[in-house]
Amino acid sequence: MELTKKNIENIKTWLKNNLDEERYKHTLGVASCAEELALKYDLNPKKAYIAGLMHDCAKCFSKDVSKSYFDKVDILEEEKINYKTWHAPIGAFIAKTEFGIDDDEILSAIRWHTLGKINMTLFEKIIFLADKIETETRDCEWCKCNRELLEQENGLNKTLLNCYRATLKSLCERNLKICKLTVDIYNNLLDNI
Ligand SMILES: [Fe+2]
Ligand SMILES: [Fe+2]
Repeated sequence: MELTKKNIENIKTWLKNNLDEERYKHTLGVASCAEELALKYDLNPKKAYIAGLMHDCAKCFSKDVSKSYFDKVDILEEEKINYKTWHAPIGAFIAKTEFGIDDDEILSAIRWHTLGKINMTLFEKIIFLADKIETETRDCEWCKCNRELLEQENGLNKTLLNCYRATLKSLCERNLKICKLTVDIYNNLLDNI
């Protein structure tokens, strides 16, 4: 799919019809933040904008609808534990089949934006991060502190580590299970700061 203005407008219309208001607002925030981070790290800003726009496209699907995609997507067994993570592999599938997005960088960034993975590419990292630090719906202080971290030496990995730390803390506090992959990524980031 060509990333034309008309296509972007089509995607936005689809998202408006398939997301709730808050999620749509977050989506626009992630798209802008991804574009900004792409410019900062010399990546393609248009591709980053599209990945940001599409990253949560399957977030508001019901549990039943989401489950109906299980045999079509590459969902991990441990991802099946937590309903909140299902929209990432399903979202990549929707981006490809509904919108004809065939760019592997965009599809992979959507696929891995919730759990992340070890040794993410720079493009995957900025989409993951944009999801956490967009300023439309995320807490102001949280965004400010991460943006300061980002300016430090090896700032990208330090900021990612900070996000994983917050996720682990929040999962513990809510008595929720932690995927082994999340712990592995955390440990790997600790080795790379
Ligand atoms: Fe998401
Ligand atoms: Fe998101």
